Amino acid sequence: MKKSELEKLLEEMTLSEKVEQLVQLHGGFFGNIDIYTGPVVDFKMTPEQPYRTGSILGEHGAAHLKELQDKIMEKQSHHIPALFMADVIHGYKTAFPVPIAIGSSFNPELAEKITSAAAKEASAAGVHVAFSPMVDLVRDSRWGRCMESTGEDPWLNARMAESQVKGFQGENFGENGKMASCIKHFAAYGAVQSGRDYNVTELSEHTLFEDYLVSYRAAVKAGVSMVMTAFNTIDRKPCTTNKRLLRDILREDMGFDGVVISDYGAVSESITHGSSENHRDAAKKAMEAGCDIDMMSECYLQNLESLVNDGELSESLIDEAVMRILVLKNKLGLFENPYKDASEEDEKKYCFCDEHKKLSREAAEETIVLLKNDGLLPLNEKQKIAVVGSLADSSEITGSWALFVDKSQTVTMKNAIEELYPNADVTFIPFDEITEKMLSDVKTADVVILALGEDQSQTGESFSKADISLSKVHSELFNAVYDVNKNVITVLFGGRPLAVPELAKKTNSLIEAWLPGSCGCYALADILFGKVNPSGRLSMSMPYCVGQLPISYSAFSTGRPKPKMDGFCPYVSNYMDVPNVPLYPFGYGLSYSEVEYSAVSLDKNILSKNDKITASVTLENKSNIAVKEAVQLYIRDIKGSVVRPMRELKGLQKISLEAGEKRTVDFEITEAMLRFYDADMNYVSENGDFTLWIGHDSMTENCADFRLEK
Ligand code: BGC
Repeated sequence: MKKSELEKLLEEMTLSEKVEQLVQLHGGFFGNIDIYTGPVVDFKMTPEQPYRTGSILGEHGAAHLKELQDKIMEKQSHHIPALFMADVIHGYKTAFPVPIAIGSSFNPELAEKITSAAAKEASAAGVHVAFSPMVDLVRDSRWGRCMESTGEDPWLNARMAESQVKGFQGENFGENGKMASCIKHFAAYGAVQSGRDYNVTELSEHTLFEDYLVSYRAAVKAGVSMVMTAFNTIDRKPCTTNKRLLRDILREDMGFDGVVISDYGAVSESITHGSSENHRDAAKKAMEAGCDIDMMSECYLQNLESLVNDGELSESLIDEAVMRILVLKNKLGLFENPYKDASEEDEKKYCFCDEHKKLSREAAEETIVLLKNDGLLPLNEKQKIAVVGSLADSSEITGSWALFVDKSQTVTMKNAIEELYPNADVTFIPFDEITEKMLSDVKTADVVILALGEDQSQTGESFSKADISLSKVHSELFNAVYDVNKNVITVLFGGRPLAVPELAKKTNSLIEAWLPGSCGCYALADILFGKVNPSGRLSMSMPYCVGQLPISYSAFSTGRPKPKMDGFCPYVSNYMDVPNVPLYPFGYGLSYSEVEYSAVSLDKNILSKNDKITASVTLENKSNIAVKEAVQLYIRDIKGSVVRPMRELKGLQKISLEAGEKRTVDFEITEAMLRFYDADMNYVSENGDFTLWIGHDSMTENCADFRLEK
């Protein structure tokens, strides 16, 4: 449709029709529902009314959605098609590693490939909008939704956000195989206090802009179509009714002109937050704040019309919101083809197809992180190996948003080892109970692999934990096994960095497998047996204990910094019982190769306004196998008009090095990379001294100094 036709359509719509466009319901209102992503509720509606709403949540399947679309278009007076939206978070039918793992690939191109594959499957199944990517930054592994984030770093999250948006939307999401992307949750949902889901946030303006908003801004710049509000408050106001956040920051400052949707029930939750009086007040506040769609609450449906009729709300606000929704429908091509790419044939062709299974495996090759290896890895097939733990044969490893995945198709660690290494001498003990028989099998093994951590029911939305150490059952299992055999390799599954300092000290080798998806265990098996050289890096610091949280490498210097790494020092900023640094830092991860970095060299030491510095290192793969290396650039602004982080990631190149290969990697440093929000919240750079590091992880000491003189 042309713009003028959309305008004409809007003009012809009645007020109640317009309001219905601003409401999103889940499938429960249309008959059977197999997917609930929030509390079960019932609204006062006529039986026909659900079919006139503008968008529907969580319904899927080409045949079903075509039929539903027909009914909707028949019942809606102007035959306006509905938008079908769903949580396609880490794949649709093929589960890819969960986002925290994708962050650990340190490979934004891989992230793009994954969302592109997910879009191909989901759009064939009739879904128009993916509620993804979640771009919330997180520094607290108590929060169950860590698994949904690409991690703790603003710069890495921003690269991941733009790549994922590109993967879903392509150049034109109206095309076959592409879909609209909705980033979430605006804003700073990852900063919920105490890591407890749905809690409030307390952030400084600087932290909000400098750390938390960066990934949303990058996604907006990449052309994302929709933004979902967050459940939390910012500055003591619920995000969904927060005008400054949605209008001033998102629309004005970031330039977002797409559709804003509330999170599930979040408009009405402004009442329980204690900030709106009742549904009517909540509807008014959310509409004025700029929230276009009310997902799963009655506030808009029951109140917007009377608010306008009573002169309490301007109809122009409703018109604006409806127009944004019509524009999105138009960009998806729904007025010409209301089913978009829904096709039973394509659904069969693409969903869980060989190409996507392969991608699920290849993705896990880059997302699994080797944290420790005192020599037991890689295994050889002649060793007598015992694999212990229920997670070794669990299909609950695809992630809590694997809503549409057929779990019976998930490859477990046991399946993968048996299929890929049939000649290996492996005994599987896929239970967590400690028995005499198990201990005697374990005792005589050359190597024991323990599969520990969390399955997908332990992480995800609402699954926050105050204790992030290993479960009692798994700790006891580890200790019992370790007592009889010291040759232990531990594989940790889960969606959050757990605190495992004792285990890490004792275990010979430690692998963070995250929740690796449908075929990720093939990659795990290949890493264990050395066919794949691990290259994943931690996208979130792994703390010693919950008391260190929130934690990030990108911290500030205190007035009394700790003078040395180890031991307690009185009257400086440190803990008596644990170090200040995490057990394993952001960016950390080993491979089976030794990669040597040369010292950093700069082509000049003074940077002027329109110039650039080239910073270089030469890497040498000293091993006789190929390796992938995530080369990381960090910068510190030594003194600013406001305090500046001790390090910030500012560049990344994931390169492949053949056995013995030597390669020089260059990074360009420009004035724009040095900007930050000054005391008056102007985004500027300031003359002065800087240090940059190029190395293997966020603790690298490989550095050089330069000055900015504009
Ligand atoms: C979650 C969102 C999700 C929505 C719809 C909410 O509970 O917070 O991330 O997209 O449900 O399923």
